[in-house]
Amino acid sequence: MTCTCFVPLLLLSLVAGCAARPFYPLPSKTSHGSRQPLQTFRPYNIAHRGSNGELPEETAAAYMRAIEEGADFIETDILSSKDGVLICFHDVTLDDTTDIAKHKEFANRIRTYEVQGVNSTGFFTVDFTIKELKSLRVNQRYSFRDQQYNGKFPIITFEEYISIALDASRIVGIYPEIKNPVFINQRVKWPDGKRFEDKFVETLKKYGYKGSYMSKDWLKQPVFIQSFAPTSLVYISNQTDSPKIFLIDDITIPTQDTNQSYWEITSDGYLDYIKDYVEGIGPWKDTVVPVMNNYLQTPTDLVARAHAHNLQVHPYTYRNENKYLHYNFNQDPYEEYEYWINKMGVDGLFTDFTGSLHNYQEWTSPLSPDDHDDDGGDGSASELLHKIALLVSKYKNL
Ligand SMILES: *[C@@H]1O[C@H](CO)[C@@H](O)[C@H](O)[C@H]1NC(C)=O
Ligand SMILES: *[C@@H]1O[C@H](CO)[C@@H](O)[C@H](O)[C@H]1NC(C)=O
Ligand SMILES: *[C@@H]1O[C@H](CO)[C@@H](O)[C@H](O)[C@H]1NC(C)=O
Repeated sequence: MTCTCFVPLLLLSLVAGCAARPFYPLPSKTSHGSRQPLQTFRPYNIAHRGSNGELPEETAAAYMRAIEEGADFIETDILSSKDGVLICFHDVTLDDTTDIAKHKEFANRIRTYEVQGVNSTGFFTVDFTIKELKSLRVNQRYSFRDQQYNGKFPIITFEEYISIALDASRIVGIYPEIKNPVFINQRVKWPDGKRFEDKFVETLKKYGYKGSYMSKDWLKQPVFIQSFAPTSLVYISNQTDSPKIFLIDDITIPTQDTNQSYWEITSDGYLDYIKDYVEGIGPWKDTVVPVMNNYLQTPTDLVARAHAHNLQVHPYTYRNENKYLHYNFNQDPYEEYEYWINKMGVDGLFTDFTGSLHNYQEWTSPLSPDDHDDDGGDGSASELLHKIALLVSKYKNL
């Protein structure tokens, strides 16, 4: 009885005392004893931008919800502020997923830049300092998803995102993307001629991320580094042995750095080359199984050829809403998971609804009863703290 009333007090002192990480203790100060390990016997549940089907994407709340719901990995996109701070944000512009339009003080920051061969106009993250970015709030991207959290959560930094994973009550991996590296390196300059990729790897190393796939170090702090830019993955290959995933876009879009077509980068010759640098590929799912009139067509042989090159396949993106479910699946997201996991044999799935994928996997291929409970957590005091932190964070102006 007496002890419960100290929990909020302790939490509030953490909130007040730690400006850089407003509501989490530093990872080094958190002691979890032996944490539930990453499951490695079934395909990875990769929480795309956190639980962004429910909460505004790439916010602390979205990542904490994904962890509660059973994510193996929390996924993010790394971009940069004007002053070189790495942030978790998907678009190079702030227009679609923040309240920038309400900030009249920034009205004159609108710019037009060429990004991947297209002139885009908007408010670019690279024209705002981290302090300015922190004054904005994130909105839900899609009008057909829950709008009640709009304007409540700030943009978070790469370091804050890492601390969320490291502070989880079980081992949760991270899956950060080197996003738009060509554009970022054009627009942001770091001291000593460092590149975006250098800062990205430095940040991972600072927090102890190292080791090849399935090594002891990796299992302690799992990470997949992802990028659509093959030259970035090759560039960092002599800086870190952490596993890397080469993302593959729609068949019509050339790579941003080498201008190669889909056909070139999925040829056996190219897979032979890239397999020395990456652990796997992350293709758009419609490029693996083409779609016509919202029906799946005959699958390509991409999964089989990747596996023949000892490459994993982690397709994106799985979404519950009817508008994203091909008619073959009878508007049932579990049927889609069944198809991709059992028929296509993929090794990981990027999902907007981590809870749904987790439920499907628990029903069909459960974790052993010894090391899990219904929410994937350990029910410890630290898990309780995280739940309270989530509640409090909704009312804090950070
Ligand atoms: C973008 O705009 C600039 C300035 O108007 C122009 O020189 C350039 O060719 C444009 N680029 C593309 C890809 O349209
Ligand atoms: C790593 O490779 C990059 C690009 O290939 C090169 O510029 C850099 O000097 C290399 N670094 C080391 C430590 O070998
Ligand atoms: C990229 O490749 C396409 C098709 O081969 C070509 O038309 C285009 O000019 C190339 N763009 C650049 C920037 O090299």
